[in-house]
Amino acid sequence: MTNGTREHWDEVYRTKAADSVSWYQPTPEPSLKAIDALQLPATASLIDVGGGASSLVDRLIERGWSDLTVLDIAAPALDVAKVRLGDDAMQVTWLVADVTVWRSGRYYDVWHDRAVFHFLTAPEQRLAYRHALEAGTAPGSVVIFATFAPDGPERCSGLPVQRYDAAALEAEFSPAFMLERDWREEHTTPGGGRQSFQWCIFRRR
Ligand SMILES: C[S@@+](CC[C@H](N)C(=O)[O-])C[C@H]1O[C@@H](n2cnc3c(N)ncnc32)[C@H](O)[C@@H]1O
Repeated sequence: MTNGTREHWDEVYRTKAADSVSWYQPTPEPSLKAIDALQLPATASLIDVGGGASSLVDRLIERGWSDLTVLDIAAPALDVAKVRLGDDAMQVTWLVADVTVWRSGRYYDVWHDRAVFHFLTAPEQRLAYRHALEAGTAPGSVVIFATFAPDGPERCSGLPVQRYDAAALEAEFSPAFMLERDWREEHTTPGGGRQSFQWCIFRRR
């Protein structure tokens, strides 16, 4: 699964403009609102798992955050973000890895995943992700998830996805992670389509 997945995503980022993919957001507003509501100091650490070419780290650097990591299976995705950031790219730790195989050597205060976990359609993939999540978080760490909602698309980037409501995501991560907040978002794609997302914030017990 790892090799096929990597090839798929490498190809996506090599052949499509970053602002043309369905998940593109000019500004990652829902993530920023969620992070701002946490009222964490800018010294807090954050990992954007499957961050791709998202501008979340750009906006957090502007807010003074200094311990930022972006992990993605596709090196070309991270290259897009690095070029965009210029010298500021040196302020970010960039990791090319499959999250289901990678195991963090440190804890993060915030684990952010927008539209990555929902690609794991097999129980063993989700278990492997959970092991990565447990290695990268400590009691008190916050986990922010955005997945397609039950009325969201059945596929993304040509791949099947698992859709979730808050209760279903909670079932994946409880009891180790406590659900603190959940809400829905209607994302507008660059092509004008609408996609229902489920957002959840968990805290590790
Ligand atoms: C739909 S995109 C979302 C990108 C970004 N989170 C955003 O909101 O703009 C999914 C991302 O997950 C990455 N990805 C997919 N499977 C992965 C895996 N097993 N490990 C790490 N990254 C993965 C892809 O390369 C892609 O950048």
